[in-house]
Amino acid sequence: MRPEARIPRFHWMPPSALAEKGALVLSRRGVEHGAVRRAGVASPVPNARAHWDASQPLYLPKALTALPQFSGEIRRTRSLFERAQSNRLDFQAEVWRRLEGSAAWVPAGAAVDLADDREIEKVFADETRGGRTTARDLWAKLSWIAREPNDESLRVRFSFGSEFHDDWHGNRSHAAAADRFAQAVFPECGLITDNAPLTDLLSHLVRRSIRLSERIAFANAPGGGARFHHDHETEQRGVVFGQLAGKTAWLALPKRALAEAVSDTARGPLARSLSSTARALRMLDRHDVPALDRLLNGNPRLTQALVDRRALYVLSAGDVLLLPSHGPDDVAWHSVFALGARPSLAHSYGLFAAR
Ligand SMILES: [Fe+2]
Repeated sequence: MRPEARIPRFHWMPPSALAEKGALVLSRRGVEHGAVRRAGVASPVPNARAHWDASQPLYLPKALTALPQFSGEIRRTRSLFERAQSNRLDFQAEVWRRLEGSAAWVPAGAAVDLADDREIEKVFADETRGGRTTARDLWAKLSWIAREPNDESLRVRFSFGSEFHDDWHGNRSHAAAADRFAQAVFPECGLITDNAPLTDLLSHLVRRSIRLSERIAFANAPGGGARFHHDHETEQRGVVFGQLAGKTAWLALPKRALAEAVSDTARGPLARSLSSTARALRMLDRHDVPALDRLLNGNPRLTQALVDRRALYVLSAGDVLLLPSHGPDDVAWHSVFALGARPSLAHSYGLFAAR
């Protein structure tokens, strides 16, 4: 049976109520966004595909049903990220240790891009089958998520070829090889990829058979997370985010709904530039408006407005969040807050049509 989507309900409290018992604190890189408490039961989504088509995120509690079978792999990967955080990880050695005994993968070097201040190391591999090289230039890249030194969140992204030239667009056979590389390094990918009820739901939403590529493993560190953004890319139908350990909180909603919320919430000169939802929609595409950036990523009033609109989701181990992407204005925007005292573990995959 396909996992059931639900819409949770939360009550927002101001930063002064942060110490309140049982409240989840939304804080990112020193900015307090308030605290939230669950308010009543989550309501079921009656028609998941209609919801998806409307660019609404789909929250699937406890969809990763095989979690107990992967507890060893999850523990091992949390340790990988914790060693990276404390500068005790040889990433290249770790990747090859994990692939030991498999003839399918051949080391192809490692590099550090000095122009990318977040990159720690990129490890390259070629794939071979029956003694023949089937895909070259696959890579696993370990990097910090944020530039700010007070956020120790990390990620490992799997892809191939040149990042600068966006080689990952349009090369399905290499994408499939990069997916197999990710699966070999992090076998816990199986929690999502071998989860038939979940992949059946994804095919139902996209209306065709799917592949899960451009895989990223995340370790969001306490007090860290991601600013408001979208993941719209040509050919990418959406993003599948699975929480494997720990907790994260998400503000996630269709871009048009976010435009309406920022238009309602803005004050002063910014309010004039956001005087209609249509103008706000265009402003969201700009990255050069500091006042809008402060409203989106540093203003508890907007966070409160979004929580009131039921745009907050709290993901615990085993939960999944689907973020649809149909076009530049019809895409779920989202921001992430790390919760808890220890870095969490999650996987995020791009959702593509298989053919
Ligand atoms: Fe994202």
